[in-house]
Amino acid sequence: MNTAESEAASQDITHNADIPTIGVLVSGRGSNLEAIFDAIARGALHARVGIVISSNPNAPALGIAAAHEVPARVIVPKDYASRAEAGMAIIAALRAAGAVLVVLAGYKPILDGCVVGAYPMRIINIHPSLLPAFAGGMAPRPQADALAAGVKISGCTVHFVTEAVDEGPIIAQAPVPVYDDDTVERLSARILDVEHRLLPQAIERILYSTVRLEGRRVILI
Ligand code: GAR
Repeated sequence: MNTAESEAASQDITHNADIPTIGVLVSGRGSNLEAIFDAIARGALHARVGIVISSNPNAPALGIAAAHEVPARVIVPKDYASRAEAGMAIIAALRAAGAVLVVLAGYKPILDGCVVGAYPMRIINIHPSLLPAFAGGMAPRPQADALAAGVKISGCTVHFVTEAVDEGPIIAQAPVPVYDDDTVERLSARILDVEHRLLPQAIERILYSTVRLEGRRVILI
């Protein structure tokens, strides 16, 4: 390789053997997982998905992992003696895959504290509301709650996962208008569209920034 070629190769991070591996946890449809694959394919996200873990054996997201030839594991918490044991299985699978960041993309169970402890400030979640509003619950509950509350703006949030559900420090948010004639379905679809942009962007920023916490404020340098 001549100097120009090696400079070009070193600038093209996708040719870098050290490209970070992420693990993605899912429970359902998997459209955010697909958005992650799309972002990687178009060069907007410099990472590889090393493993997909589903809490649901029938999740369509498993088909998306298979289509991208990414190994998938099904870990159903109720098949284990305790949430902690399920958590240990999740940790083992993530470690075996070499995951440095864990992304909850429509993951339903509450993660055991042992998983949160094994990846401190290295687990992120996407939630379909502007946290701290409408925390808790799975889609479409937060969207339904926003509609019922009459807010004129909702949106989505990417945040670090801590043991307190949906209370971890906020990494990124995007607003979405709520229209007078909205239904839960229409609002959810509008929010989902924005999720598909926000999540890959947030993953890229977390992977390639230094994270500083000032109180609850996340500063990415
Ligand atoms: C997304 O709307 C995500 O924000 C939400 O589940 C949906 C998953 O869709 N997550 C939560 O509600 C977490 N509390 P997907 O399976 O198509 O990515």
